Amino acid sequence: MQKINKVVVIGAGLMGSGIGYVIGNAGAEVTLVDIKEEYVKSGMSRIKYDVKEGISRGKMSPAEGMKLIKRFSTSIDLADACKDADLVIEAVFESMEVKKQVFGTLSENAREDTILATNTSTLSITAIAEGVKNPGRVIGMHFFSPVSAMKLIEVISGKETTPEVRDTLMEFSTEIGKTPIAAKDSPGFLVNRLLLPMLNEAMRASEAKEATMEQIDALSAGVHKFPAGPFLLADNVGLDVAFHAMKTLENAFGECYKPAASLTKLVEDGNLGMKTGKGFYSYSKDEETKVEEKIDGEFNILRILAPMLNEAFKLIDEGVATEDDIDNAAMLGARFPMGPFALTNKFGAKAVLKYLMDLEERLGKCYTPSPSLVKLANN
Ligand SMILES: NC(=O)c1ccc[n+]([C@@H]2O[C@H](COP(=O)([O-])OP(=O)(O)OC[C@H]3O[C@@H](n4cnc5c(N)ncnc54)[C@H](O)[C@@H]3O)[C@@H](O)[C@H]2O)c1
Repeated sequence: MQKINKVVVIGAGLMGSGIGYVIGNAGAEVTLVDIKEEYVKSGMSRIKYDVKEGISRGKMSPAEGMKLIKRFSTSIDLADACKDADLVIEAVFESMEVKKQVFGTLSENAREDTILATNTSTLSITAIAEGVKNPGRVIGMHFFSPVSAMKLIEVISGKETTPEVRDTLMEFSTEIGKTPIAAKDSPGFLVNRLLLPMLNEAMRASEAKEATMEQIDALSAGVHKFPAGPFLLADNVGLDVAFHAMKTLENAFGECYKPAASLTKLVEDGNLGMKTGKGFYSYSKDEETKVEEKIDGEFNILRILAPMLNEAFKLIDEGVATEDDIDNAAMLGARFPMGPFALTNKFGAKAVLKYLMDLEERLGKCYTPSPSLVKLANN
């Protein structure tokens, strides 16, 4: 297995600095690269803050903290910085154009055996690898935010990625204290493919006045033990991020994945959730969130869960990952109380199938049950 001692992280933003910290903490040398000195400086400030926190919480001694900081160097010259790297992890803006430009520089300047990983959340690994010399070394390494706390890394093989590169990255991910889960290159990978349609369904249900967002959030988080209700979670993730990720699914799989009208409107108006002070809820002191009128009647949580469970079965139909890996990814990457297959067992496959068939009758083909769910329920 290829040894990884020198790592270059490109993009010193939220994810790049978190990734750099976790890798430096595990003992590798890290070079943090961005396009301007001020950006690498602010990335390093975040890393130093994490080290200080680590020291004050007794996770490391001040001497260990100093040693950790010394493992970092910074650069604004990617062509030079990547020359000697064993692994490069790209965490720049989520734009195919920008990522292609970065991978072009890596292709020209890094060693031919350097593993080239991307932290993209939504873009195709196969497309990013196009035009790169030796594309078998290009792979997805999808961390979750906040990087130091979230255990999951989705390790995504593109069409050309070699099994050796995947295995090396799986082992390295374990060495840095994470839980890697391998999946095929498919829009949304595992976690976003499950989570985003669930948020979107909650929005559609609320638009149709089947329940208020407060009711749906309270039922999801309070009764069913999801870490947060879908509206609060969407506000937290950032409505622009959720919107663009849904758009990726829509472009790949068609109109059933169209972002909900309420999400689209909020994004168009610049209300992006907690970071702008207003999203589905209001976070400014002067403006209270108007609690929507309570809607009478029972809201069945399957209204938002069943379409998500259906996505999990579609992932099986499409051969993207195994049931266990999908369950673990949902728990580790989205903090679901249990994975979709365990949830299907809890509700009963027959009940989930029946609920989806009713939805299909009421709302159309977007709710057609997947073949493997039908098979399981009829067994
Ligand atoms: N934010 C999340 O929760 C999250 C989670 C998982 C994956 N991601 C993915 O991680 C990547 C980075 O996201 P982020 O939230 O850290 O973004 P960010 O905006 O905080 O940071 C991006 C950084 O990349 C730098 N950059 C842009 N072009 C560059 C180039 N050509 N060379 C070097 N540096 C360049 C920018 O200056 C910026 O500092 C995206 O692909 C995103 O989809 C984000």
